Amino acid sequence: MKVFGFAVLAIAPVIVFASREFGYASHRIDDADIQIGETLYGEYCAACHGKNLEGQPNWQIPLDDGTMPAPPHDASGHTWHHGNDQLFRYTLLGGEMALAEQGISNFKSGMPGFAEELSEQEIWNILAFIRSTWPERIQDIQASRSRPHN
Ligand code: HEC
Repeated sequence: MKVFGFAVLAIAPVIVFASREFGYASHRIDDADIQIGETLYGEYCAACHGKNLEGQPNWQIPLDDGTMPAPPHDASGHTWHHGNDQLFRYTLLGGEMALAEQGISNFKSGMPGFAEELSEQEIWNILAFIRSTWPERIQDIQASRSRPHN
């Protein structure tokens, strides 16, 4: 039970991250290149998030250093709980900076930022590839989280 309590604490910032929306560039995912995204995913993301988007083993249990393992990006994970802009910011800035941007400081994240390595278009391509692997029903739910609120 102690382990469970710790896990809940560790994911709390991620839940807050889920409750915020940006909604200014989401549409860019619709013009992105899924095939290029798949190649880039293999080069830049698969090492942690898995070749088949399956994530790291026991991804819901915090590691000894307090960070979380890389979650799956397939429909079994929670990537689709977030709107496109949030996924974009998280990939561009990395976990710590993306959450700091939303007022959550001192969250230790194992997710690096890719602003130096990838262009914005390349990040949209990767996100479009990830989205293309989800069942249609999940894509529909995720689309409703990507719309601006007003
Ligand atoms: C060095 C390992 C590593 C690499 C490489 C990596 N990630 Fe991550 N990623 C993580 C970890 C660990 C998390 C867990 C969340 C946290 O601790 O911030 C994460 C979380 C995420 C999230 C948030 C998902 C969610 O459901 O909350 C997104 C989006 C993401 N990564 C996208 C990517 C993309 C796209 C790439 C490739 C360009 C990538 N990551 C490469 C380790 C990595």
